[in-house]
Amino acid sequence: MTDFSKGAAFIEGEQVAIADAKIPLMDWGFLHSDATYDVAHTWKGRFFRVDEYIERFEDSMAKLRMSIPYDRDQIRQIMFDLVRLTGLRDSYVEIVCTRGIPAPGSRDPRQCRNRFLAFVVPFVWIANDELRARGLNLMISKQQRIPPESVDPTIKNYHWLDMVMALFEAYDHGADTAILVDARGDLTEGPGFNIFARHGDTVTSPEHGVLHGVTRMTLLELMERQNLRINRGRLTADAARAADELFITSTAGGVMPVTRIDGHQVGDGKPGTLVHTLNDEYWALHEDPEYSVEIEY
Ligand SMILES: Cc1ncc(COP(=O)(O)O)c(C=O)c1O
Repeated sequence: MTDFSKGAAFIEGEQVAIADAKIPLMDWGFLHSDATYDVAHTWKGRFFRVDEYIERFEDSMAKLRMSIPYDRDQIRQIMFDLVRLTGLRDSYVEIVCTRGIPAPGSRDPRQCRNRFLAFVVPFVWIANDELRARGLNLMISKQQRIPPESVDPTIKNYHWLDMVMALFEAYDHGADTAILVDARGDLTEGPGFNIFARHGDTVTSPEHGVLHGVTRMTLLELMERQNLRINRGRLTADAARAADELFITSTAGGVMPVTRIDGHQVGDGKPGTLVHTLNDEYWALHEDPEYSVEIEY
């Protein structure tokens, strides 16, 4: 019997164990990073905001002129079926559309049959328990995030060379992760996360030149219910260094405090009160039927 407990994938209409999941070498998804993807998650056996993730995925495919033979309900069904197959309660659920393979010798993307695949693995954390408890040490990278004029970051994409080099730079300097900048040196996003800075009762989270994270959207909704002023504008490096609180958000871990930036303490150097509150509220939403659906295993 196949063991799906370490993960499962849906490829070419079939469910396979994650270790057996493969795509053809000639697919432009691999050769050209010509792909889009999305990552949802389940927590305690419930899918979190699954329709918002699927909607973003469909938007990304439309912007890239990709199409697949599955509608929203079918994608949803494939995701639920895969999770059920693994039996995982806390899981990371990725859906992918690659360009596919053009006719031999052709460079015409219109000839490609786009390929849909999905996989489920155990939940993935950007920061482990210890890091989340003490807060991350974030480095402002010299690396510039690919400009939105070149690759639209609202399309979730695999153009990660800038992010990977920024991670090397951060690790070389003893930091835990990196945030990339734009041409002006303002903060954008990091490998798999958006950023927030609190100064007094104003919270800034850059919106231009970044993926519009579902976690970021959730946190903005939570903050709008509080007496906080939200600024979706620029976050300069100086403003980030002077913040009372800094935190990052991702499907892979929720809301995570940053307590050092470029080696300097943020605020009093401890995770702040806002990040604590938001973390509790964020995970509580995972049990709220308005935000999550139960999976019948
Ligand atoms: C580049 C980038 N920015 C931001 C995020 C955070 O988005 P979400 O909250 O939807 O996971 C991700 C998630 O992987 C990402 O890859």
